[in-house]
Amino acid sequence: MYILAIETSCDETAAAVIKADKKTGRILVLSNIISSQIEIHRKYGGVVPEVAAREHVLNILPVIHEALEQAKIKPEKLDYLAATKGPGLVTSLLAGLETVRALSFAWNKPVLEVNHIEGHIYANFINLKTPVKFPALILTVSGGHTNLILMDAKHKIKIIGETLDDAAGEAYDKGAKMMGLGYPGGPAISKLAATYAQSSAITHTKAPAPETSNQIILPRPMLTANNLNFSFSGLKTALLYQLQKDKSWQKRLPEYCYAYQEAIIDVLVGKTIKAATKYQVSSVMLSGGVSANSELRLRLAQAVIDKLDKAKFFVPALEYTTDNAAMIGAAAAFQAWAGKSRSFRQLKADPSLQLK
Ligand code: KG4
Ligand code: ZN
Repeated sequence: MYILAIETSCDETAAAVIKADKKTGRILVLSNIISSQIEIHRKYGGVVPEVAAREHVLNILPVIHEALEQAKIKPEKLDYLAATKGPGLVTSLLAGLETVRALSFAWNKPVLEVNHIEGHIYANFINLKTPVKFPALILTVSGGHTNLILMDAKHKIKIIGETLDDAAGEAYDKGAKMMGLGYPGGPAISKLAATYAQSSAITHTKAPAPETSNQIILPRPMLTANNLNFSFSGLKTALLYQLQKDKSWQKRLPEYCYAYQEAIIDVLVGKTIKAATKYQVSSVMLSGGVSANSELRLRLAQAVIDKLDKAKFFVPALEYTTDNAAMIGAAAAFQAWAGKSRSFRQLKADPSLQLK
């Protein structure tokens, strides 16, 4: 089965062709094209919805064309078209959904609507070498979401933890803005944190930060709380107070990035292990844009080995971590296998679509 999938929920215009085999459960990516608007939005310090929508309209057809070319597939061979229904910016979502509506009408193909967060989750099912054992626990960390999700063998999902305020990616983005590092914040903070770790010979197996007379100490919000929820807005404020107290913080920028990232990762890893232990899961998965972070990937993989007896760790390849259309195709494949299908008339964007 071949699916052409489109993702336009925020500031990436993306199209992918995937090949999904129900018998083997294999999902292969034949093409995965992404036209990023990061450079355009960087000068505004974040995504400007109207600019994003206009860029999507300009880019969507060339991106789809390239995805089909690279996959060496003609529209006649496609079994389904898929697009992101939400959550996201409504004008961005509409650019993708309306294009898929028109193509579905012109090519006479059924369509599938995908929840963006479900797409991030299903990035873990692309190119799988070993089958996933259930129950699985998924930590989803993106710019807008931070969730701990349980998935059973029938792929039914249940949210068991969520952020009460800022998402993990938002913590990176807002922290970076405070430190003058621009948008998006995750890659910038992670790069500087790595230079500090290297210069201080810190590795993830040698955790303690070096002792300095004025060590940067930040809280680990809700790490010991008796629930599986997160909160990152207090951490951001704690960073702000530290920066205000320190007249020469610019000179210690890599160290601040390191301390801030450690606080975020300690909480994410700690809570994930707590949830995995409580629910006795067989698999732990990581997903969403923040899962591109190499320190988080390493630390969670190591914690699963050290702290959980039976669970196996899954993480998507880097190209499927931040927003892309292959993950939307992967989620759509599972919908198609379950017999779901829609007509172009039924498509409807939902900017605040919930997981269920
Ligand atoms: O999933 P995504 O591409 O878009 C949303 O659905 O929100 O996630 C974007 C988020 C941004 O907050 C960005 O700063 C963060 O992912 N991010 C990272 C890294 N790369 C992207 N955070 C930490 N480390 C990274 N390497
Ligand atoms: Zn995303």
